[in-house]
Amino acid sequence: MRSLVESPDVAIWIAEDGGQMVGFAIANWARGANGMEAYVQTIEVLPGSRGCGAGRELLARAEASARVAGAEKVWLHVEASNGAAIRLYEARGYVCEGRQEGYYGRARTALIYGKALSASGE
Ligand SMILES: CC(C)(COP(=O)(O)OP(=O)(O)OC[C@H]1O[C@@H](n2cnc3c(N)ncnc32)[C@H](O)[C@@H]1OP(=O)(O)O)[C@@H](O)C(=O)NCCC(=O)NCCS
Repeated sequence: MRSLVESPDVAIWIAEDGGQMVGFAIANWARGANGMEAYVQTIEVLPGSRGCGAGRELLARAEASARVAGAEKVWLHVEASNGAAIRLYEARGYVCEGRQEGYYGRARTALIYGKALSASGE
């Protein structure tokens, strides 16, 4: 995590409410065989601050940072049982591209979601 945070190819966005941190998102990017791609490492909002748009805003800003860095695609893993996160991603145009059994441990499946990042913004 330390090397990730210190990398120049990472964006960390923090959501605050009244000067208190209520959420954060971390995304990084790298050039691979398919061009520059970003990966959302994590996005988290404190339980008492959920449902107010912070998650959507954090995700939008992480995507914007990746786009500015030249990323053409963003992808992420989400646990198949995590309905709130899946709805957030689908509402922002992510499409399920696959699944990985056991990604989060035994009998805990990850879905792989991806989204093209257009130069225009959405
Ligand atoms: C997923 C998470 C980041 C969403 O943050 P949030 O601030 O509550 O999300 P927002 O208020 O911006 O909601 C954005 C959209 O997400 C969906 N959503 C968020 N919470 C939801 C819930 N409890 N039930 C259903 N849909 C939900 C909705 O589509 C919502 O859009 P709408 O308000 O237009 O209906 C938050 O629930 C969280 O921190 N969960 C624990 C950590 C986690 O699972 N992170 C994802 C790891 S892959």
